[in-house]
Amino acid sequence: MSALLEVVGLSAGYGGVQIVHEASISVSQGEIVTIIGPNGAGKSTFLKAIFGAIRPTAGRVMLDGRDVSGLSANQMVAAGAGFVPQTENVFPSLTIRENLEMGAYRRRGGVNERIDELLARFPELARRPGEPATRLSGGQRQALAMCRALMLEPRVLLLDEPTAALSPIMREEIFQQIQTIRDSGVAVLMVEQNAREALAISDRGYVLVAGRNALEQSGREMLDNPEVGRLFLGRVEVEG
Ligand SMILES: Nc1ncnc2c1ncn2[C@@H]1O[C@H](COP(=O)(O)OP(=O)(O)OP(=O)(O)O)[C@@H](O)[C@H]1O
Ligand SMILES: [Mg+2]
Repeated sequence: MSALLEVVGLSAGYGGVQIVHEASISVSQGEIVTIIGPNGAGKSTFLKAIFGAIRPTAGRVMLDGRDVSGLSANQMVAAGAGFVPQTENVFPSLTIRENLEMGAYRRRGGVNERIDELLARFPELARRPGEPATRLSGGQRQALAMCRALMLEPRVLLLDEPTAALSPIMREEIFQQIQTIRDSGVAVLMVEQNAREALAISDRGYVLVAGRNALEQSGREMLDNPEVGRLFLGRVEVEG
């Protein structure tokens, strides 16, 4: 069976400076896939290029069997992709509800129903839909950003460091929600620095180093891989 999202040999950068070098990745229906790698490795650039937020200079992106290479972010949304960027992923001055309505700009109908459906997963958001996003905690803001991207019911959701700067309890809640999203039929491709926790819920992982593929393994294999442990899992304290 072919992958839902298949990226082959993608290159991208900024103003003539190449950051991502022929990187490849695939995500199948029902999967959570995580990309880890050092700071500045080009992980965010890779996600942006897949989503069409920046234009790749080479390579191919297939979504659900359709060649979507070179499409704009708007066109990618129409094709079934959602994206939550690393920063500035909600409109701070807009309310929770307004943020979700913005996410629905392409939706023909059922906006209120979809908002209710998504907020049902997040009681703290559901309780105060008229609150401006700026008053939310980091975790609640991330939850809102994910809901916003889910308004249009994507087939695949790209998440850039969804748990950055969150407390352990909030991280756990966000990772739980990511599994709920996966269970609802949306494949997930995320970039994470909290590698141990991310890999623990991932079917597969990739290591990106200096913009290039360095390793691909199952989440379990990566957690057990001594080199991955030494390089990328060291900063999370060992339990017990
Ligand atoms: N908008 C931009 N314009 C120019 N260069 C950029 C831009 N964004 C990122 N870069 C450069 O591209 C390289 C890769 O950055 P990128 O943000 O993709 O890395 P990353 O792996 O996501 O890092 P981090 O772990 O810090 O989030 C860095 O050298 C960065 O300085
Ligand atoms: Mg990044």
